[in-house]
Amino acid sequence: MKTYSTALIPGDGIGGPVIDAAWQVLEAAAKRGNFALEATSFPWSCSFYKETGSMMPSDGIEILRGYDAILLGAVGWPAQVPDSVSLHGLLLPIRKAFVQYANIRPHRLLPGVEGPLKASAFDILCIRENTEGEYSGAGGRVHVGTLDEVAVETSVFTRKGVERILRFGFEQARARRKLLASVTKSNAQKYSMVFWDDITEKLSAEYPDVEVKSYHIDAMAARMVMAPESLDVVVASNLFGDILTDLGAAIQGGLGFAASANINPDRSAPSMFEPVHGSAPDIAHLGIANPIAAIWSAAMMLDHLGEAAAATDIIKAVETATARGIGTVPGKDRTETITAAILAALA
Ligand code: IPM
Ligand code: MN
Repeated sequence: MKTYSTALIPGDGIGGPVIDAAWQVLEAAAKRGNFALEATSFPWSCSFYKETGSMMPSDGIEILRGYDAILLGAVGWPAQVPDSVSLHGLLLPIRKAFVQYANIRPHRLLPGVEGPLKASAFDILCIRENTEGEYSGAGGRVHVGTLDEVAVETSVFTRKGVERILRFGFEQARARRKLLASVTKSNAQKYSMVFWDDITEKLSAEYPDVEVKSYHIDAMAARMVMAPESLDVVVASNLFGDILTDLGAAIQGGLGFAASANINPDRSAPSMFEPVHGSAPDIAHLGIANPIAAIWSAAMMLDHLGEAAAATDIIKAVETATARGIGTVPGKDRTETITAAILAALA
């Protein structure tokens, strides 16, 4: 029997309960699909930082490298550790070290979920560059604390980095409705963003079957609200993609539904799957975290591992549950109720 090894990092806050839920669903799907999943759970989190002084051990990356995939809950507990420390100690280094350059985030309404928009028939796949751009980490502060203080944070766009994410976007569009929206701000940022537009145009010649349009980020924000049904695949830089995917989460009914996959397309290192919602300290102990984003992310993991049928089974089970009104309204159902409904639909 095929066996996949997974590293689970529940992390902070609601990360624990949603990874528990996702794991139950994964095990059920594996049983049906005739494959096996092995899990090793790592306690790396802000509590771990409080005990050890770091978010993960110094060989954490090398430990994770041995797994087929990583399933992560949430990182961040600002009351304990500043976000700028916790995220740069765990989530962001994994994305970079494992060259998970494509962050994929699907935005569509599940049956029974009412979004805030009139439009309901949209199906957007956001692809966010995940290793460079505005998140390069290049910068510094000088004259700290004085009136002369200066802070510089440099966006880094490389030909290799931009070309590979755009190619990935073109390929995804090719496999879907053949529409690619490339998002920049090249009217204001005349080096990096014009560079991105140039590469988009150059690559478009190789994908004559894909209709590509370039948008500015501000216009795209409006379009995602006013005409989301006009969009198919949307590709953007790291920060722009981060912001647009929270907007995407909002139009699909909330962060409780927003799944994501940090993909290493070359498969030279494990990919990582995580709900977009974060640790949600405000509801962390209430038992009402929506596990759907984590479960959907787990389905994306199975798809990446080559178990597409099992991934589809999970998505269908989620849809059956939401069509019955389970998990559709934030805070209405308990995590375990939603998980049980999905497990029942899967059985
Ligand atoms: C996300 C999150 C992270 C990001 C934060 C927590 C660093 O917002 O995955 O969207 O900006 O990438
Ligand atoms: Mn975000």
